[in-house]
Amino acid sequence: MREICNIVVLTGAGLSAESGIPTFRTVGGVNYWDTADGTAYTIEEVCTPEALERDEGLVQRFYDGRRAALADVAPNAAHHALARLAAEWDGGLTIVTQNVDDLLERAGLPVERVWHMHGTLRSALCRACGARTAWDGALEGGPACPVCGVAALRPDIVFFGEMPHHMDAIEAALADADLFVSIGTSGAVYPAAGFVQTARHYGAQTLELNLDPSAGSIFFDETRLGRAGTLVPEWVAAMLAVGALR
Ligand code: NAD
Ligand code: APR
Repeated sequence: MREICNIVVLTGAGLSAESGIPTFRTVGGVNYWDTADGTAYTIEEVCTPEALERDEGLVQRFYDGRRAALADVAPNAAHHALARLAAEWDGGLTIVTQNVDDLLERAGLPVERVWHMHGTLRSALCRACGARTAWDGALEGGPACPVCGVAALRPDIVFFGEMPHHMDAIEAALADADLFVSIGTSGAVYPAAGFVQTARHYGAQTLELNLDPSAGSIFFDETRLGRAGTLVPEWVAAMLAVGALR
């Protein structure tokens, strides 16, 4: 077995499920009910550039609701365990998240250690000047961009059909990884769903920690099924007990 020094962790919605944030593709997952007409929309219908163009109010309301809901949730044991790993692991560690919440940061991870490949709810992106501004309130109603003054703010979220963030740096980290660990993601959305195969291609061991078998389970050397709040602290404690081997 190859010695482990560099770890890449990929997280998905399952990491935050026990904090009370619904996942996307499991029973009870995120469906957006537009109270204006009572229609339920899937994430794919609400989160596209075309949806923003067609019905900006609908998209802004959906993300305003998700942003507001952050006030009611807190990091769980899995977030805290990853923060502990970041503080104590003596090898390399890259944390890539598809989650747009800020629970990893609130568990104590430094902002620059968390690569939000799908963007973040706590930021607004100006379509006029390109500036990103920390944002806690609502975007529906068209508040002005604090930088250029134009009312052109949108959620700083990667919509379907847009380019995820940090792809070059993620690819480089996967190429250097000795261990790739996927936590709480269904493996349904690319490019994140392909990271396990990239990591394997470069020789990494691969481990999946998920509630259910995922679309990518066959690509992992090992899959442990269970709740992230249990599995992640166990895995972190085991890694720290051994330490990085160089
Ligand atoms: P897709 O699989 O069709 O396309 C992936 C996108 O990533 C493409 O736009 C492509 O340009 C880019 N891409 C693929 N491989 C790349 C690489 N190696 N380097 C750089 N860029 C690469 O997926 P999609 O349906 O277009 O979704 C795009 C992303 O937006 C997904 O990651 C999705 O999860 C995300 N998204 C997030 C939310 C949210 O609410 N958090 C909502 C919608 C979409
Ligand atoms: N512990 C561990 N895993 C869990 C838990 C839990 N407590 N609860 C649910 N899960 C698992 C589910 O079994 C499922 O496989 O988390 C996974 C969540 O999958 P999705 O809902 O598809 O979420 P995710 O993989 O993050 O979605 C990817 O799709 O809509 C886009 O951009 C959005 O970032 C998101 C991307």
